[in-house]
Amino acid sequence: MSEDLKLSILNKLAADSLIPDTKTAFANVSSETILGALKSLESQEKVTYETITSEVSSIEPEGLDQLKNGSYEARIFNAIPAGEQGISIAELNAKFGKMANLGMGKGFQNKWIKKSGANVVRLVDSIVDQIKADLQTVEATGGNPDVEVIKSLKKRAGLIKQSKTLSYKVSKGANFSTELKKQATDLTVEMLQSGAWKSSEFKKFNFDSLGINPNGGHLHPLMKVREEFRQIFFEMGFEEMPTNNFVDSSFWNFDALFVPQQHAARDLQDTFYLINPATTDELPDFWETVKDVHEKGGYGSIGYRYTWSTEEAKRLVLRTHTTAVSSHVLHKLAQEPYRPAKFFSIDRVYRNEEVDATHLAEFHQVEGVIADKNMSLGSLIAFLDIFFKKMGITNLRFKPTYNPYTEPSMEIFSWHDGFKKWVEIGNSGMFRPEMLRSLGLEEGVQVAGFGLSLERPTMIKYGVDNIRALVGHKVDLGMVQTNPACRLDKKMGKEVFQNKM
Ligand code: PHE
Repeated sequence: MSEDLKLSILNKLAADSLIPDTKTAFANVSSETILGALKSLESQEKVTYETITSEVSSIEPEGLDQLKNGSYEARIFNAIPAGEQGISIAELNAKFGKMANLGMGKGFQNKWIKKSGANVVRLVDSIVDQIKADLQTVEATGGNPDVEVIKSLKKRAGLIKQSKTLSYKVSKGANFSTELKKQATDLTVEMLQSGAWKSSEFKKFNFDSLGINPNGGHLHPLMKVREEFRQIFFEMGFEEMPTNNFVDSSFWNFDALFVPQQHAARDLQDTFYLINPATTDELPDFWETVKDVHEKGGYGSIGYRYTWSTEEAKRLVLRTHTTAVSSHVLHKLAQEPYRPAKFFSIDRVYRNEEVDATHLAEFHQVEGVIADKNMSLGSLIAFLDIFFKKMGITNLRFKPTYNPYTEPSMEIFSWHDGFKKWVEIGNSGMFRPEMLRSLGLEEGVQVAGFGLSLERPTMIKYGVDNIRALVGHKVDLGMVQTNPACRLDKKMGKEVFQNKM
């Protein structure tokens, strides 16, 4: 339909070069439809057009009655019989009702009739009903009669109404042709290959059209909680460790930490070993120191007394804890002149574990290490009291435990009001001299460390009871947008660490 209209516009232009007014050329088509076709043709540069604003007259209901039945005065005139007698006014009133008065008035004015006693009589033999004729002209010209006609009809209220209409003067455009091609919106591979692009017409880009409102970015709940932890660390003067080595050698992940090569944690069941490449070529230059301390001890230790294998140390793993990151950073720290230092990291670690509602093969660890000549177990406890207090946990207890790389080692517990029992919230300890000295840290430098998971407090904070709703491919991304911001304020901290543990 609209294609037909476009074609008729083009054909008319081809014949006449100009359409002076679409109102006359396309009298039966609404101006909106015309405009739609013209806009489309203009965008292809087939036509140019100017808008013509004009007034049209339409006949009102009273006018329609007079168009059909004659003007009131004509009807009155026709009702009066010729001759001296005429007709009584009472009879006219009875016959014509309200219009009798108006018709008689106009009849008197026109000198068609006159009063004679209680009657009216004709003054002329015949009349011309100009009102009816004018209304017929309005109808015949589609509302565009001579101004004179309009002028005279407007003298009487209620006959016609004038309103503005838009029509268009149309000329040929730069790209004029009578052919309508479907415009391409995109240049496609197929068009390039077939050469169709040469003869294609392209739809113009509308640079003024508004784009889709971009969504603001949203932090994942885990990242929100991570940010809270980061701020606490920064506030306490910690430096952030680089955690971008997700794959590391067993050397850094285990050996440098004095984890024996037969340790259960190194089991295939607990650790993901890489297959390709399965090993690294190099070990750092102090590897022999590490070998010695495992085999023979040193720094007050008798060692594990087994034959240490470089092959085992070269095996690549997905890091099983962020303490692998700490071992790199502590080794680097040992290369500088002594300075007290505090480091933290929060990132992913991987464990080959049975996956269930609260365990994943990958999760995030929050880890802190403090290196200082005066660092002691007492200072670590004092520090942990302050650190957890910043998250609202005030009641800590420590239970001795075993880690291959720390001695003493302490599990961190907090009192759970709901469960009325002590629940574990983290692990900690003083790194062993076997580890620190082989990393190169000088005698007298003590390093304390602690770690906890990021998922557990996040799950509790956001009321997530299945970890797979928080991490992994089953995460509903909509959740990222709808979750509220998280603050580890004091009250919340208590909830986070004392709920469900
Ligand atoms: N690496 C330990 C873990 O995986 C946490 C820890 C870090 C313990 C530092 C002591 C010192 O749980």
